[in-house]
Amino acid sequence: MMPGQGRWALAVHGGAKLIAPDAREGNRRGCLAALAAGRTVLTRGGSAIDAVEAAVRILEADPTFNAGKGSALTGEGEIEMCAAIMSGVDLAVGAVGVIKAVRHPISVARLLMPEDEILVAGPGARRFAAEKGAELCDPEELVVEKQRRELAEHDTVGAVALDTAGNLAAATSTGGLPGAKPGRMADSALPGCGYYADNAIGALALSGKGEAIARLAISSEVIRLMPEIGPEAALERPLSKLPHLGGDGGGIAIRKDGAIGWWHNSPHFAVATASAAQPAGRVWLNKDEA
Ligand code: GLY
Repeated sequence: MMPGQGRWALAVHGGAKLIAPDAREGNRRGCLAALAAGRTVLTRGGSAIDAVEAAVRILEADPTFNAGKGSALTGEGEIEMCAAIMSGVDLAVGAVGVIKAVRHPISVARLLMPEDEILVAGPGARRFAAEKGAELCDPEELVVEKQRRELAEHDTVGAVALDTAGNLAAATSTGGLPGAKPGRMADSALPGCGYYADNAIGALALSGKGEAIARLAISSEVIRLMPEIGPEAALERPLSKLPHLGGDGGGIAIRKDGAIGWWHNSPHFAVATASAAQPAGRVWLNKDEA
């Protein structure tokens, strides 16, 4: 058997955040549903890029999570979303920032991958979505009551995958931080900040305070560290610096050999993983459960 030797691996997350007791079951269920969607792609011999898009679409459709439907509201009461997808094969990136009124920002990001631009934002991003036939919606359709009440747990969703051909991919999607300034760009749209994928090393997706993640360029640091110290330690070292900048967060990563790691310093981090060795998969809400 060639490159991946039948090996595949998948990790998804539903955000580094505080999860209230009555939201825990929904977080577990949502992560497992996303895991199932990605696993179906991978076990049928599909690509890592298709797997991470499929997983993130499930999380965007689930109002439990701050991405797509259920996104946080800006200080002006609107939903502005950011999402990105990256292929480890050729370092192709597609990202959208501050996009409004589309059902699946991750799929708009995917549509940008073949283009020269790696990130489009604001009205231009929605125009691009419309031109490419992405699913548009009324902005109100994405709003859920808990976000109106500003009780929402925040953060991003994400997925990373290794397919049986040995290719890696990463995807992120977020409604951003509740009450943020209109026009704010999340780290989740910026390669080297909220995500990265490189077949020569690994793939990762982060969640947490975007400004701090971007200032520390955490994804590029994780990629630098991963070959030497493995995915989990590579996440832990730079994420441990977040509290010094007034934030917390978490991350999922897969090394090119299929080793999966995840780490967080937020109170909870909803994570599910599966692999060829453990296809049924597992879900956790924090490291204490691991
Ligand atoms: N990490 C997502 C955000 O800061 O919006």
